[in-house]
Amino acid sequence: SEKRARSARGLRFGAVAPNTADRVTVPEGYGQNVVIRWGDPILRGAPEFDPDNQTAKAQAGQFGYNNDFLSLLPLERERGRQVLVSNHEYTDEVLMFQGYDPENPTREQVEIAWAAHGLGVVVVEGERRTGKLTAVPRHRLNRRITATTEFRVQGPAAGSEFLKTSADPTGTKVLGTLNNCSGGTTPWGTTLHGEENVDQYFAHGTRATDKRYGLKPGATERKWERFDRRFDVAKEPNEPHRFGYVVELDPYDPESTPVKHTAIGRFKHEGASIALTPDGRPVAYSGDDSRFEYFYKFVSSKRMRRGNSRADREYNMTLLDEGTLYVAKLTGDSPAESIDGSGKLPADGEFDGSGTWIPLATATADGAESHVEGMTAEEVFVFTRLAADKAGATKMDRPEDIEPSPRTGKVYLALTNNVDRGLDGKAPADEANPRKANKHGSVLELTEKRNNPAATKFGWLLFLVAGDPEDPATYFGGFPKDQVSPISCPDNVAFDSHGNLWISTDGNELGSHDGLFGVATVGRYRGQLKQFLTMPTGAETCGPLVQDRRVLVAVQHPGEVDGASVEKPASTWPDGPGTLVRPSVVSVWREDGCDIGV
Ligand code: FEO
Ligand code: CA
Ligand code: CA
Ligand code: CA
Repeated sequence: SEKRARSARGLRFGAVAPNTADRVTVPEGYGQNVVIRWGDPILRGAPEFDPDNQTAKAQAGQFGYNNDFLSLLPLERERGRQVLVSNHEYTDEVLMFQGYDPENPTREQVEIAWAAHGLGVVVVEGERRTGKLTAVPRHRLNRRITATTEFRVQGPAAGSEFLKTSADPTGTKVLGTLNNCSGGTTPWGTTLHGEENVDQYFAHGTRATDKRYGLKPGATERKWERFDRRFDVAKEPNEPHRFGYVVELDPYDPESTPVKHTAIGRFKHEGASIALTPDGRPVAYSGDDSRFEYFYKFVSSKRMRRGNSRADREYNMTLLDEGTLYVAKLTGDSPAESIDGSGKLPADGEFDGSGTWIPLATATADGAESHVEGMTAEEVFVFTRLAADKAGATKMDRPEDIEPSPRTGKVYLALTNNVDRGLDGKAPADEANPRKANKHGSVLELTEKRNNPAATKFGWLLFLVAGDPEDPATYFGGFPKDQVSPISCPDNVAFDSHGNLWISTDGNELGSHDGLFGVATVGRYRGQLKQFLTMPTGAETCGPLVQDRRVLVAVQHPGEVDGASVEKPASTWPDGPGTLVRPSVVSVWREDGCDIGV
């Protein structure tokens, strides 16, 4: 750890130096514990994890693989307890099964993978003195949602011709959720989960729309199409149209049917985060995580009901079905020729400008209306990327997680990287995406007009241009660069109760491991980025969640290194040599029992 610098409240800790240790490294004076690991039993009757005797039945009652987004919800009648909701984005079969043959997965292995995908709900209990958290197995709220759990489709594309399949002629009942990356916690006590890279599950996608969504004409790497025909587009052409949405779960009702919201559009949703308009309507922000894709917002026309009865939550779970979907167009304020792709700041000292939210379609209780010429409303909601192409939205450098500040209302968007920016035949650098072959990414700060999340105009600037601070093509909110931590590939964003922004990374082009960083967005320390922790080998930092007593992170895909397998592990975190590497949730807290960073 470096010397403790003067910092904003909430960020007073000694920054962790970049490193490549196969562990979670935290600041001096901080402790950590593994809250829950892949395979830990959470449901009644589920067995202890046994790496040599895995079954789909066991996995369906155990914590899933590759934890990503995390949410903690209050559990009022049970002291010291909260409800943890986790995404299980995808599976890494070579790190799960001994002797895995990628050319010939067995039915049992595929069914284990289905059961290891999805969402997890598990009650956790805090230790009184520290921020240590432990899971409460067999709690009545504990639940697993998998690739085969029934979902209800809501919103304008429910029942659409594009969603009907031989198994579901109504186009309203989908089995499973896939590739849940990031998400959001709603003010009405439910959770949102983005379905991201769902193209990888579907074989033989040959239509133009398949191509625009990343599907490939051949077999898939996972080969699920051999075990369930719905994963074969040649046999079930509409099945892929049933994935790529924002899903919503009521974690307080283990019997409830989770929902897919079609009004927020279909694309590679990183997640979804909610702000409320002054009159109480939710606005959902969501990025489409691929190179040269767009970011969006959905403005509901319905007001949230206050109150937390089951009936209130049921009503509020329809808020994201009626309203208008918009996509962002950004314009820089510096002369285009001053943006040369080098990342050098323009003459006005900032990469900044103005923007417009372009309406794509509006959904109402009686139907939907398209605002895009040549496309029906149904087409806009199911093939949203094509609608945004037509609308002339701005192609961004992988827009990932997005989060409105609960303190200032400003919205922060992680732009992870884009190594193709400005290459031959690709979109050139622009003021919002100013670096050619952008390896390190940036964080954009967006200010809605009159600070109203329903506004159709906004201002924006690049708050961070990531990389080694010694690289002149970096920017840290104007803070002196000799006093900040290096950062590469910002991905997830979250806020603490002091209003500081926390940023986790996915991929590090500076030669060290992924990590979690905190930074003030206002005041004299604006831009003073500090590294709080680093990840084990091969892991991505996910789901950061900062409470006063603890920081929670999902250690995702530890050991995921080219050529690694169960037989040749790159990591044995968290249990050490001789054990299987296991994605896990970690809680970090102060050993003296005080709040984080004060
Ligand atoms: Fe799953 Fe966009 O990272
Ligand atoms: Ca992510
Ligand atoms: Ca400018
Ligand atoms: Ca990512």
